[in-house]
Amino acid sequence: MIYYFSGTGNSKWVAEELARLTCDTAVSIADIVRSGGHAEVPEGQPVGLVFPVYAWLPPEIVSSFVSELSADKDAYRWAVCTCGDDAGRAMEKLSKKFSLTSAWSLRMPNNYIRSFDTDPEDTVREKIRGAKQRLKQIAQDILERKKVWDIQSGRLAGLKSALIGPAFNKFARDDKPFYSELSCTGYGLCESLCPADNIRLEGGRPIWLGHCLQCLACIHRCPERAIEYGKETKGKGRYYFSEKYLD
Ligand SMILES: Cc1cc2nc3c(=O)[nH]c(=O)nc-3n(C[C@H](O)[C@H](O)[C@H](O)COP(=O)(O)O)c2cc1C
Ligand code: SF4
Repeated sequence: MIYYFSGTGNSKWVAEELARLTCDTAVSIADIVRSGGHAEVPEGQPVGLVFPVYAWLPPEIVSSFVSELSADKDAYRWAVCTCGDDAGRAMEKLSKKFSLTSAWSLRMPNNYIRSFDTDPEDTVREKIRGAKQRLKQIAQDILERKKVWDIQSGRLAGLKSALIGPAFNKFARDDKPFYSELSCTGYGLCESLCPADNIRLEGGRPIWLGHCLQCLACIHRCPERAIEYGKETKGKGRYYFSEKYLD
């Protein structure tokens, strides 16, 4: 079984590609959590995890999911993290909670528009094409149950994961700065796609309920580009994974 978390579709695509290439099944962690369910992997079955890196750590929803995950200790356990640039020690941190046999990082288009802008379209295409190629090798390694640790950690990885990651989770996940512009039509895509059920429409406009994961899907997916996070996202690009980038 392959469990994934994804905000803007990169990790979902990776999980589904790997499921296709290894004849496995990809399941959304957010769907399991929202349904109040619990995942139990049959004895001996391999377990895969796919998730985006958030401030050089795994997203909290992924860390708490794996802490509860019942899986055979001797089974083949692997994970792939997607990141705009580098993963820091995210995988090592995850492996402390759920010991991994193998792990890979994969560069994918950046969606963190609170600090940066989106990648230019040629970079988006180059990253996705590169990832598609790399996934073939990763799938082969998974099928052969290889022991691999292939992570782009980046500079000052230990420091970033030890200091910036926890500080991000503590101080930067506030959802009060979210707002919708007058161009909001009350279409409600944000409400239905939020993986944390953190958005409700009131009077035809979204309100945020205080338990945001900062996946930024609501901002990136709004068809009217009506959602902003304070001043940080104003004038920045929007990104959501699409197969069109492979054309
Ligand atoms: C809150 C947040 C923090 C992020 N932190 C990092 C980071 O530390 N390093 C990095 O390379 N990319 C970082 N990114 C970029 C994402 O990891 C990357 O775009 C990822 O592929 C998004 O996956 P998704 O489309 O499945 O949500 C961050 C994105 C978000 C939303
Ligand atoms: S409110 Fe927006 S950023 Fe926060 S979890 Fe939901 S979709 Fe993601």
